[in-house]
Amino acid sequence: MTAINPVTDLSMDGDVAVITLNSPPVNALSANVREGLFEGFKAATADPAAKAIVLICEGRTFIAGADITEFGGASRGPSLFDVQEMMENAPKPVIAAIHGTALGGGLEVALVAHYRVAVPSARLGLPEVNLGLLPGAGGTQRLPRVAGPEKALEMMTSGRHAPAKEALEMGLVDELAEEGKLREAAVAFARRCVAENKPLVRVRDNNSKVEAARGKPEIFEAFRKANARKFRGFLAPEYNIRCIEAAVNLPFDEGLAVERKLFGELVTGSQSAAQRYSFFAERQAQKIPDVPDDTPLIPVKSVGIIGAGTMGGGIAMNFANVGIAVTIVEVQKEALERGLKVIRGNYERTASRGGITAAQVEERMALITGSLDMNDLAPVDLVIEAVFERMDVKKDIFTKLDAICKPGAILATNTSGLNIDEIASVTKRPEAVIGLHFFSPANVMKLLEIVRADHTSKSVIATSMKLAKQIGKIAALVGVCPGFVGNRILAQRQREAQKLVMEGAMPWDIDRVLYDFGFPMGPFAMSDLAGLDIGWVKERSKGESIRDVLCEMDRRGQKTGAGYYDYDENRNAKPSPVTEKIINDFIVKTGSNPRTVSDEEILERCIYPMINEGVKILEEGKAIRSSDIDVVWQNGYGWPVYRGGPMWYGDQIGAAKVLEKMKEFQAKMGDDFKPAALLEKLVAEGKKFSDL
Ligand code: CAA
Repeated sequence: MTAINPVTDLSMDGDVAVITLNSPPVNALSANVREGLFEGFKAATADPAAKAIVLICEGRTFIAGADITEFGGASRGPSLFDVQEMMENAPKPVIAAIHGTALGGGLEVALVAHYRVAVPSARLGLPEVNLGLLPGAGGTQRLPRVAGPEKALEMMTSGRHAPAKEALEMGLVDELAEEGKLREAAVAFARRCVAENKPLVRVRDNNSKVEAARGKPEIFEAFRKANARKFRGFLAPEYNIRCIEAAVNLPFDEGLAVERKLFGELVTGSQSAAQRYSFFAERQAQKIPDVPDDTPLIPVKSVGIIGAGTMGGGIAMNFANVGIAVTIVEVQKEALERGLKVIRGNYERTASRGGITAAQVEERMALITGSLDMNDLAPVDLVIEAVFERMDVKKDIFTKLDAICKPGAILATNTSGLNIDEIASVTKRPEAVIGLHFFSPANVMKLLEIVRADHTSKSVIATSMKLAKQIGKIAALVGVCPGFVGNRILAQRQREAQKLVMEGAMPWDIDRVLYDFGFPMGPFAMSDLAGLDIGWVKERSKGESIRDVLCEMDRRGQKTGAGYYDYDENRNAKPSPVTEKIINDFIVKTGSNPRTVSDEEILERCIYPMINEGVKILEEGKAIRSSDIDVVWQNGYGWPVYRGGPMWYGDQIGAAKVLEKMKEFQAKMGDDFKPAALLEKLVAEGKKFSDL
């Protein structure tokens, strides 16, 4: 074996040269890896004893892409294009042996091999779109040539990782190897290539899959139209589509030139910067400074959930989805049956859309047991309480759990803002108590706010973080304060939205500005969707707020066909003259005059106090770092990914401008806009939010 460089070895297996990369954690295409590949292929190509060349990786995965940390920096050593040219033009068969994930630049390397062999557990994809990018090393031109433009459109605009079996069907992989025997299979494949004198297939030369779509812009138009909602606001999906159009309509090298130009625009743009930041923010959020990686974990093989409502049911599905047994406890038989029925309905809907098989529906349902007796939670490893938000009810439940649950069990509450220290105080084991704040619908929403109380043990925290990953959630650890991180910041926006209405902005004006900013919907449309009567009690309503009056008129949101908006039979919203009149009457009652509120003011009034609140949260130590706040807002509240999150966005505007505006608003409208002391300090020291 010859060491080519610290991350690359070259060895001979009979007459087959094997280049092995070993650059943990994911064999990303750093300068070292590119150099290793370049020199390795140069040596193997020049060696007459090597009749074919296999490229394989050590560790958990094949090359998982370009090294994202190198973007924007000066490039060293051979470029990826130099490596690819060497591989594609090698005068002997080159075989990529794939395990783990071949993603982005990794798949683009595999696509210049003449053949690809993969183990069944491998996954292949071009996920650059999720980083606000497009595959910039020929992937946009080669994937359509291998898999056809339709498949390429779907894969490149979703970033989906295709399993090896599917990759085999689409021609992206030439042969599946037995799990654990990849190297042997790839070398055997290489020998067959030599023995059978198989052609050195260069994907770039194969136009057969793209020809049918040539000169047919309608294919791309239809795709754009069908996905318009999903792509709204994002540049990268559109740029990926344009590259695939180029692959279909232009010769390879001209298509490549289009790819390079568009990649250049994206990689230097603000959207990709925000999306790459988010990639690392999510991973950073997993690191808890005082909870080391080797903190002992508590095995969680069974989970109990209290409450079979929408929340409890959704939470249960997360665990059943990964094979963990769940016991759901309810008080009333009917509520329990209804809850289990909703879960089954959700699974069956997924199955009808092809997401899971009918057998999987039954497997998952078999993991979920209903119970009317809390004593059934005695043996479970983790209990999550998901009943309504009342401290006395929660305390009662935790008192009982303390008596029922086995020692060592984790006792979690799904409260969205109550004081978890107070809840923990009724138990004799506050170290076992933690907040696991899921977002509705809990089986869909990505975020899990993990709330650390004063006495929560490190093992309970570490276990919760790991469990979050296991069930496919993105976790952020936060501290106890009213509303925690997400809802506490949301309260700022909600307050300003309500105030703006009383000053003369209509709900649809505010919603439009926030929608155009990139939120999936504005606060009033959101209220209509959720139901205006959540927490509203008819008997106690005194017509004191716009919501009270709307509910009294039975305008309770989408479900009654009217709320802030009027809805047609397809639930399309229209600004409502009724609501407008209610608002104007209220304004008259307060003795003020409605004024014209600019879009700019709406945006600044809604967003800047959120950023300021984020700073207060950091000041109080309720979030570990500013990027954790962005993780919460992106994954739980629909903050547009291409704008990073409130704190990242604050840096784009500049802390000094945020402070100046907060002061200006404070002078006019009072202490709702009082700048955080830390914001003043930040500006005085010339620092950024991301420094916090
Ligand atoms: N560059 C640099 N670092 C990377 C990386 C990359 N492409 N991919 C992952 N990492 C790092 C992560 O930051 C993480 O580091 P820390 O341990 O220090 O936090 C570590 O590798 C492990 O990553 P994960 O925690 O995500 O591990 P996982 O096992 O859950 O997932 C993965 C592995 C599926 C490969 C996932 O990391 C992933 O999706 N990576 C990004 C893949 C990607 O987007 N590739 C395209 C890059 S852009 C490109 O290639 C452009 C081009 O056309 C040339």
